Amino acid sequence: NAGSLWGGRFAEGPSDALAALSRSTHFDWALAPYDLAGSRAHAAALAAAGLLTAEDEAAITAALERIGERVADGSLTPAPDDEDVHAALEQALIAEAGPELGGRLRAGRSRNDQIATLIRLYLRDHARVIGLAVTDLVDALASQAEAHPEAILPGRTHLQHAQPVLLAHHLLAHAWPLVRDLDRLGDWARRADASPYGSGALAGSSLGLDDDLVAQRLGFSRTVENSIDGTAARDVVAEFAFVAAMIGVDLSRLAEDVILWSTRDVGFARLHDSWSTGSSIMPQKKNPDIAELARGKAGRLVGDLTGLLTTLKGLPLAYNRDLQEDKEPVFDQVSTLEVLLPAVTGLVATLRFDVERMAASAPEGFSLATDVAEWLVREGTPFRDAHEITGALVAAAEARGTDLDGLTDEEMAAVSPSLTPEVRRVLTVEGSVASRTGRSGTAPERVREQLASLTRQARAA
Ligand code: ARG
Repeated sequence: NAGSLWGGRFAEGPSDALAALSRSTHFDWALAPYDLAGSRAHAAALAAAGLLTAEDEAAITAALERIGERVADGSLTPAPDDEDVHAALEQALIAEAGPELGGRLRAGRSRNDQIATLIRLYLRDHARVIGLAVTDLVDALASQAEAHPEAILPGRTHLQHAQPVLLAHHLLAHAWPLVRDLDRLGDWARRADASPYGSGALAGSSLGLDDDLVAQRLGFSRTVENSIDGTAARDVVAEFAFVAAMIGVDLSRLAEDVILWSTRDVGFARLHDSWSTGSSIMPQKKNPDIAELARGKAGRLVGDLTGLLTTLKGLPLAYNRDLQEDKEPVFDQVSTLEVLLPAVTGLVATLRFDVERMAASAPEGFSLATDVAEWLVREGTPFRDAHEITGALVAAAEARGTDLDGLTDEEMAAVSPSLTPEVRRVLTVEGSVASRTGRSGTAPERVREQLASLTRQARAA
């Protein structure tokens, strides 16, 4: 076939079944703008090496510009017999600049170093988009925290009431992992910042091309140092896929709280009409579909990572066609996160909290028992005994069907003479929260400092 990138040694063209299997333009066309950028940089390197005249380089560059416009406006699309984005764009160049010029550009490069470069360019751009969307979500969580400086929530472990905490403290506990995800993206970007262009098929080029020039034109700060590694390694793709999966997992944990909070039984938060859905049969329903899709899509994001790692496992050096399978998983992660993140941000930003209901639930389940035990410790009781005494106090309250502060002074003293009426100071959720002044604790002044620190770090990430 005329558009094929090889043929000299083949007597027959590819079978239809092979061509159908081989074709990747339905997904790798997303890389077309990056392929064209790579071609422009490569033309400059060929010209600098004396392999293209200045006029030829200008003609190729102009043709590539026109092709780029047609890719952008959708008037150029791959033909059915184009194998991949590289083949399709070479055909376009030949059509635009003629077979003589169009045929010169392929010197000194291979689809192997091209594709390894293009995937980095693509991921670099989308990492920025995703990073901004994660920042918006961090901002939404921080704004909700700021808007509720005093609200108290029943903090849970094992989903059981554990100790009262500030709602703001809890919301920021969802923001911190996202700030670390931003940090991971930044860290990834430093490792991804090396151009494989010039690695050729695997052994590098013999044409005296300036790989640094290409790297610099493509916005990389350096080139890879080993052409085999440059064409065969995909850890840079896998690492991106991990960060994307981690963001998905972090969103799913936040989503689970929103789902729980918006149930009738818990009722801590109400969903905004524009960020929730109804039922086709039950007129009263208001469903947290965004949160459920976030929870569900985490599975898909993790699956993409798992699939990619499984493809990479055990591959011999250098390039193998298996590597073509690196793209769809990360393309899927990118499109998933780019629609999911803005929806989750809107969901969080418009949540309305029922702070009275949360505060009323906070002391339930004897969640102030630890405060009693720690009060006893401050009064000089060893913690082992304090734990024992407080356990007996809980049992006494439970037997009487009351809360800890429902017991009389006499009933408390009967449990232990150390339990003087002074203990009532710590038997309020406000007192409990205010007492947790340790560095990372839930006391209001600590949470205020924490919010400022988070905002600073999110800006810096
Ligand atoms: N389309 C391939 C990929 O996505 C790049 C082409 C390399 N093909 C080859 N036979 N060496 O990885």
